Amino acid sequence: MSVAVESAQPSAPPPDLESDKLLPGVHTLPASWWVSDKVLDFEKRAIFAKSWLFCLHKSRFTKAGDYFAFNFLGWNFFLIKTKGGEIKAFHNICRHRAFPVVRKQQGSSTILGCKYHGWSYDTNGLLKKAPHFENIEGFDPTANSLYEIKTHTSRQGLVFVNFDNTENFTPFEEFFAGLENEMDEFDFDDYDYHMSYELDGQFNWKTLMDGYQECYHCPTAHPGLNQAFKMETYKVVPKGNYCRHYAKIVQEEIPIIEDNADPDQESSWFGFGKKKQATEKVQKKANPGGQFNGLWCYLFPTNGINCYSPAWYSIRVLPISAKRTILQYDIYAKKGATEEQKKEFVDFLQQVELEDYNLCEATQKNLNNGIYNTGYLHPLKERGVLYYQGIVRDMVKKHYALEQENGSIINPAALTAKQNADAEELEKICAGIECMGSNPAEQGGLEW
Ligand code: FES
Ligand SMILES: [Fe+2]
Repeated sequence: MSVAVESAQPSAPPPDLESDKLLPGVHTLPASWWVSDKVLDFEKRAIFAKSWLFCLHKSRFTKAGDYFAFNFLGWNFFLIKTKGGEIKAFHNICRHRAFPVVRKQQGSSTILGCKYHGWSYDTNGLLKKAPHFENIEGFDPTANSLYEIKTHTSRQGLVFVNFDNTENFTPFEEFFAGLENEMDEFDFDDYDYHMSYELDGQFNWKTLMDGYQECYHCPTAHPGLNQAFKMETYKVVPKGNYCRHYAKIVQEEIPIIEDNADPDQESSWFGFGKKKQATEKVQKKANPGGQFNGLWCYLFPTNGINCYSPAWYSIRVLPISAKRTILQYDIYAKKGATEEQKKEFVDFLQQVELEDYNLCEATQKNLNNGIYNTGYLHPLKERGVLYYQGIVRDMVKKHYALEQENGSIINPAALTAKQNADAEELEKICAGIECMGSNPAEQGGLEW
């Protein structure tokens, strides 16, 4: 299928309601949630293990055996195209002694051989060979397949995974209610993978999401974006665990910006949001944002899919620690686009992303220093921030209550495969030792 994209027009946002104007502001969550590794660890169980996480577009797989490896919060996994043409995800953990089965970031093989003792698996994760185990009593190859992870490939080809192994997991259609229909407004088939890049930031994942979820900061922080879109039309509309961002594109050519502005001089309270009037003849260029209003979606918790006419890109936000986050961008360019067009879009994108990155690094330093605690959010201009922080708060509170009730940690991503009785008993001993604490001195205990 290939529709002429110039004719497509992403839909307009719903109108503001009268009642929206009366919404009160709300405070952000406390800064401690942005600086504590223990909170991140908890978020891993409460949020990330229960959410649908975007990985990539299916067009990146061309043949059976093509695979892509990922690491999300320590979960090592890979996606592979099976011989049957499906895309499946597996933990990158050999069932023998836990060595990673695939060793490259991406590759292609219809037989995945573990390089430790030579066990091998097919594209469906089934154990095909375990050298010297042929006649070992009690060994059942079918009970030793790779651990599969739930996946969903949308009809647009967007591939998601979900690590939740409990029976309470939320199906994709329920988690992202309405998203798949909304994505039909864009013709993903008319775009090819172009390139990826990565930024490594000294900030919490939520520091990035806070900026991502509003454009209140755009007039002050993004001169290029501010020229390409009519910022007064920017609107973030919360939906089902995702938010759609709307803004009208500037149809005419836009001025080429010279970046020599002094931020302390530029940001006047009364001039906020106004574009500078050119006093002399300004050089102009085609709008790098393309010809139509974008289809941009933030997907809770850590992904974004942003479609423009020249290209679309995805963002994967990978928390590494409370104060370090990796941002991965994949860009898919319109079929037939020239190298120059692609470069122009990438430059435009990278400029905006770098501006955001710098905002995050400076903000995080202040979140870390224990002075600031919460701030007041605008009910409409920062509605997206309110929305996603509200989901974070609710999921954390819910899981906290569950663990309190249970009296111990609940990890929804844990594999519930039956263990033998011996392992279960030994595991209880380990849990008991853990409860004693890591510092023997605190227990009034051992001296070596
Ligand atoms: S760990 Fe993979 S074959 Fe032993
Ligand atoms: Fe931004």
